[in-house]
Amino acid sequence: MKTGQIILALDVDTAEEALLWAKRLKGRVGTFKVGLQLYLRHGHEVLHGLASLGVPVFLDLKFHDIPNTVAQAVAATAVWRPRFLTLHASGGREMMEAAAGKASAETCLLGVTVLTSLSEENVREIGWQEGSAASVGRLSSLAKSAGLGGLVCSPHEAKTERVRWGNQGEIVTPGVRPPGSAKGDQSRVMTPEEAILAGASRIVLGRPVLQAREPEAVLDGILGA
Ligand code: C5P
Repeated sequence: MKTGQIILALDVDTAEEALLWAKRLKGRVGTFKVGLQLYLRHGHEVLHGLASLGVPVFLDLKFHDIPNTVAQAVAATAVWRPRFLTLHASGGREMMEAAAGKASAETCLLGVTVLTSLSEENVREIGWQEGSAASVGRLSSLAKSAGLGGLVCSPHEAKTERVRWGNQGEIVTPGVRPPGSAKGDQSRVMTPEEAILAGASRIVLGRPVLQAREPEAVLDGILGA
């Protein structure tokens, strides 16, 4: 696997911690993911710091609002030049088209379809009576036709989504665990290598690296696979 295929989720509370990780691992990681936890606490500081380090950023803010609001939010992120930015495909075609219209050329918009935390029962409870697999397919097609650059999905959906998106689409998969590491709250996991073989273009790793005794060794193991 190549360095560029690895995204590290900076799921930590402080800017100092996040930037220490980025400095320490930037030779082994392609992109650093900033999610809501870190963004809401120290977003500007972290994004400034990551920009100074010159590392690509994945801004995982999962936008979902009316088209104009989301378009303005996407425009507001342009100053950070994120390499990836997420939004919920269930916000609809107009919302996604408006977002795509405001994203800068260097930003790839990724759609989130059905959250993998939702059970089949939860999905139907929301009103998606066709169930989760069919809903993922429908939302993914919608995201593609609305001009998004790719999708965040479970590695188990990577194969189907790779066929749908063809060679150009970004298929980004969390829910991966290196062989032998703890699953945590991720239920159906694949190894990084399996996810890439299934069609993922990049994988997202958090705890298996951040909580490892030897984070560099974990990444080297993945890069060597
Ligand atoms: O620590 P871990 O490797 O499980 O971290 C995975 C990262 O990917 C976290 O930032 C988590 O929020 C995110 N994520 C996920 N599952 C999804 C979507 C995002 O684990 N379906």
